[in-house]
Amino acid sequence: MKRTFLIAGNWKMNAGPSEASKIATELVAAWEGKSFQAEALICPPFVSIPAVAAAFGNSAFKTGAQNVHTEDNGAFTGEVSTDMLKETGCEYVIVGHSERREYFHESSDLVAEKAKKVINDGLKAIVCVGEVLSERKAGTYKEVVKEQMNAVLNTLSGDVSDQFVVAYEPVWAIGTGETATPEQAQDMHQYIRTLLNEHFGSEVAEKIRILYGGSMKPDNAADLLSRPDVDGGLIGGASLKADSFSEILSAAESI
Ligand code: PGA
Repeated sequence: MKRTFLIAGNWKMNAGPSEASKIATELVAAWEGKSFQAEALICPPFVSIPAVAAAFGNSAFKTGAQNVHTEDNGAFTGEVSTDMLKETGCEYVIVGHSERREYFHESSDLVAEKAKKVINDGLKAIVCVGEVLSERKAGTYKEVVKEQMNAVLNTLSGDVSDQFVVAYEPVWAIGTGETATPEQAQDMHQYIRTLLNEHFGSEVAEKIRILYGGSMKPDNAADLLSRPDVDGGLIGGASLKADSFSEILSAAESI
């Protein structure tokens, strides 16, 4: 079974409101009068979310966030809640990106708590997992991903397939231009599917989307997306230009 692709752009700390609005407007213009089967999502920095949501208007493009806090409101300087994200038009939230795990010391337990909060509050969580280069070389990459996955799975139950997306992002492939081969990606995605199966049972596990992230580009997207357990992409660098993001979306449409 082929799941509906999710082609998601993670703009990281790039594009303030005016630049964000420009790229989003270009994206809408590029697809004007054309429809697509995939879901297409852009996750800008918090301050640019309203500008992107406004530029997307009634188009099929969706808006998401890159992070969220676990509490509803209160004295948490610098943080943003699920309700605030919903109010600005977000449908998805990226949780546990490797940059947040590394630079902001987010543990697997905190990532799990955030994923649960996002889902309980009616948003959709894109939970990132992935090993660093030394773990890939040492051959422990599946254990690393299993630990990250289990922390999240332990907080989830029932049919969350519409609200829970996994993004496998080998850290050594992020922003480096080095992509996992389609075989490496499929191997890990299949393993993640097994973990989902053990936790949710096959009916739910088969519906959950597993995205690949890490230097996905127009020239490698089709090859990665054609693997049976690769259900979309989480795209950093190549999502910051309307034409390269569109090309990746077209690659998904061609499969
Ligand atoms: P990249 O980033 O496409 O620039 O490698 C992917 C990500 O970090 O989500």
